[in-house]
Amino acid sequence: MPKHLVTSALPYINGIKHLGNLVGSLLPADVYARFLRLEGEDVLFICATDEHGTPAELSALEQHLSVEAYCETMYQRQSAVFRQFGLSFDHFGRTSSPHNHELTQRIYNSLCRNGFIVERPIRQVYAVEEGRFLPDRYIVGTCPHCGYDGARGDQCEQCTALLDPVDLLHPRSAVSGSDALEIRSTNHLFLRLDLLSDDVRRWVESHEDWSRLTKSIAFKWLDEGLRERCISRDLHWGVRVPREGFDDKVFYVWFDAPIGYIGATKEWASHDPARRDWRDWWWNAPDVRYTQFLGKDNVPFHTVFFPAMLLGTGEPWTMAGEIKSFNWLNYYGGKFSTSQKRGIFLDDALALFDPDIWRYFLLANAPEADDVSFTWEVFASVVNKDLVGIFGNFVNRTLKLSVAQFGSTVPDGGVWTDREAALVQACQTVIDAYRSHLRNLEYRKAIQSLRQLWSLGNVYLDHAAPWNLVRTERDEAAMVLRTAINLIALFAHAAEPIIPFTSNKVYDELNLTVDERSSWIAGEIDLTCYSAGRTFHVPEPLFRRIDKDEIGALAMRFSGQAKASSD
Ligand code: MF3
Ligand code: ZN
Repeated sequence: MPKHLVTSALPYINGIKHLGNLVGSLLPADVYARFLRLEGEDVLFICATDEHGTPAELSALEQHLSVEAYCETMYQRQSAVFRQFGLSFDHFGRTSSPHNHELTQRIYNSLCRNGFIVERPIRQVYAVEEGRFLPDRYIVGTCPHCGYDGARGDQCEQCTALLDPVDLLHPRSAVSGSDALEIRSTNHLFLRLDLLSDDVRRWVESHEDWSRLTKSIAFKWLDEGLRERCISRDLHWGVRVPREGFDDKVFYVWFDAPIGYIGATKEWASHDPARRDWRDWWWNAPDVRYTQFLGKDNVPFHTVFFPAMLLGTGEPWTMAGEIKSFNWLNYYGGKFSTSQKRGIFLDDALALFDPDIWRYFLLANAPEADDVSFTWEVFASVVNKDLVGIFGNFVNRTLKLSVAQFGSTVPDGGVWTDREAALVQACQTVIDAYRSHLRNLEYRKAIQSLRQLWSLGNVYLDHAAPWNLVRTERDEAAMVLRTAINLIALFAHAAEPIIPFTSNKVYDELNLTVDERSSWIAGEIDLTCYSAGRTFHVPEPLFRRIDKDEIGALAMRFSGQAKASSD
């Protein structure tokens, strides 16, 4: 049996992430990991914060913190938010960990040995008063296109034009404000992607089953021809380059970030060395099936750059078997933006609605085939229709009627009819489809199946009409309600990878035993196991309706201007 390694793209350390980050990698990875665990598979789900690079240094600077202190604080905050969303990482690490530094240097050394690294001089902006080279983002000035005064050396945030630092009018250092800048030459390291291109292409071609999105981006890069790529930077914050003359340089953040998947695994293993070995997952491990989750902007790095790094070592590293990539979730047609604080950020989202509401909504609208636009109207309609109207309503009406007629124990009596046999059949068919969609990473389809499964409960009740039977055929009414209560447990089990908090709430209300809680929908369906005489509580409604006024107020509050809270 294969072992499943699951990773989500590593979120940048700077700033609390938004709903687009959640649906674009973290959440689908979590659902997959939860699903596989319930299926009884051996799973390791790894993530980490991506901490190096200029954005972290600049954010720390803005907040007058050392970059270490800034990263520590943000790491704690991000971990807390992800935990509240129920992301079930086996380990949530950091790319700044010693494990990652060591692995990065080791992979670099292998690449050097194999002749895939060259050193070349490049011309760069040097800040004379600070005595350092400045990365493009550290240089600000006036945009030659729109006149914006705070344009960065790589891009103007106002008109989005891509820039070179030398394009800027009145350039100055973003760090000190000094305009004593000159161009100097300094040596940097380049990864010979050109020499690795054929190997990467062969590897990509061996994965015919990848999605269109993943493959099209990979081939676009390969077809345009790979050129050598600079993998060092003039920064202090990052992984040191173990090479003479490179004391003031670190690796480019995209060099050490994907190695962070391995680094975080190594850190996880180090917490229980007697039973865990990172090599079982990453080194000479043909039984590992590795699935990566990422947004489309990350596809080139995961289909070309990182694989080239690993292939270039000539060593037996685990490589992705499946790369599930996502399009954008937009906010009313525009982009979510961390730097512009536009859209809905995860801390705000949690303050507004329970995590399961978001989990369900986001997956039901996952940007799988195309970009998707978030609107509060669509959000409210999904919540009201599916969660309140179908699942919540079924649980509520079943338990309420049962308590009113038979008290708060599962009612006894009656015998099954063809109707119940047909119900089992129908549930089985839908559950088979649901499981196969989850296995195939088709989230929208999976949610459709889940909704369809839940609907079977309401159809059954409407058809059997126990509220009428109680007057004439009391035993049959008892049997119908008993069957419906069993359906509640089944529905909660099926929903667990998607809305785990709600499932657990239902398990609590039904007083499920420890064994029953951990059961899953893989076997033959049994709608009699939750038997007569057991006691349950009628839960508060599981979900609440979102009304028109509330939608209006939310749309107003998040109309795209700066986020009120400070981070
Ligand atoms: N931090 C990057 C982003 O948010 C993703 C890094 S993924 C990894 O786009 F491969 F580098 F880990
Ligand atoms: Zn501009």
